[in-house]
Amino acid sequence: MSLKISRIVNGLQPSATLAMSAKAKELKAVGKTVYDLSVGEPDFKTPAHICAVAAAVMQLGRTHYTVASGLPELKKAVAESYQNQYGFEYSPSQIVIANGAKHAIHNSLTATLDPGDEVIIPAPYWVSYAELVKLTGAVPVVVQTEESNDFKIKPEQLAAAITPQTRMFLLCSPSNPTGCVYSPDELKTLAEIVVKNDLMVLSDEIYDQLIYSGVAFASFPTLLPDLHERTILINGVSKTYAMTGWRIGWSISPPDVAKKIGELQSQETSNPCSISQYAAIEALTGDQTCVAEMRAEFEKRRNYVQRRLAEIPDVTFPKIGGAFYAFFNIKPYLGRKYGGVTIDTSEQWCLELLTQKNVATVMGSSFGTEGYVRASFAANDTILENAFDRIRDFLVEAKS
Ligand SMILES: Cc1ncc(COP(=O)(O)O)c(C=O)c1O
Repeated sequence: MSLKISRIVNGLQPSATLAMSAKAKELKAVGKTVYDLSVGEPDFKTPAHICAVAAAVMQLGRTHYTVASGLPELKKAVAESYQNQYGFEYSPSQIVIANGAKHAIHNSLTATLDPGDEVIIPAPYWVSYAELVKLTGAVPVVVQTEESNDFKIKPEQLAAAITPQTRMFLLCSPSNPTGCVYSPDELKTLAEIVVKNDLMVLSDEIYDQLIYSGVAFASFPTLLPDLHERTILINGVSKTYAMTGWRIGWSISPPDVAKKIGELQSQETSNPCSISQYAAIEALTGDQTCVAEMRAEFEKRRNYVQRRLAEIPDVTFPKIGGAFYAFFNIKPYLGRKYGGVTIDTSEQWCLELLTQKNVATVMGSSFGTEGYVRASFAANDTILENAFDRIRDFLVEAKS
């Protein structure tokens, strides 16, 4: 029999953010200057003290298999970081270290969902959620949120989406792609619905260290006593410590669930890279000045990006409370002609912006919400200034 692709994998959408980054790289490779706002990773170098530990452990020969679910010292460091941040005590037996947060999400979903289970995902959503749910045979149930509510799901929307098949609610705060942050009170109201309906929650808090001044953040499972039993918390070092390439993330769940996630991982990938795990211990236990410095730089850029977007007539966006994304509304500009090309969708808009102005962004449709565009501000001041000059020109030069 010749090779065939399985039905589940055939139904997967490739990551649109990675696809836009790849297109931007193609243009760069042929010598074009591209102002790239498509990427979802900090543009800073991994701090030197973290790299130094990685180099040292390599020399020491700590280059072999570790416990499949992660080094005990790293689990301890993760637990201590939660104790320090949120005053909440997790046991290392609740923690599974994975090859990045994406892997932690995949394994958590695989360990807890059965075919036919429904998972409620508010849109706009991070590109991988629905696809990772589909890989388990479960069904993503997408609930469209509104810009007027800062793209947060309303309690009545959550309640209305629940059916007898609903097993899980998937939450991302601070949000990729919108930068919006649920307030502790908003989360508590959602938590009450979750408990009342006996749902599991996957709370992706990968941007919890990138919260801007005056914005209140709460880690979801700390809000009500019942939540720990039903929540899988996701986090990692990728965004907080500019360590995307090291591939270290984790899940925190009740010990019996964590045990199963660890067993799954032991059959699937074994341990995450040993050197990266030691580097992650240094990230979590070493000097945290780098985190404050990167956050301050992102906040400065957030202020700049909000100002630039606000200056463009008829472009709206919700206030960015965390993460490093702006999600702006281009609906008034659809149906217009851009350099002779009529643009009707966010996908066409992003592709033409890249072709005509050499600025890479990502279309809202790939996050489940048409009519919007995501611009990452994980880029330096020069790139941001050039990119937003061009975005403004592209929009205001469009002819109706
Ligand atoms: C919301 C969200 N969750 C998870 C991830 C994945 O993180 P990692 O690179 O650690 O797999 C990302 C990365 O873009 C993200 O934005």
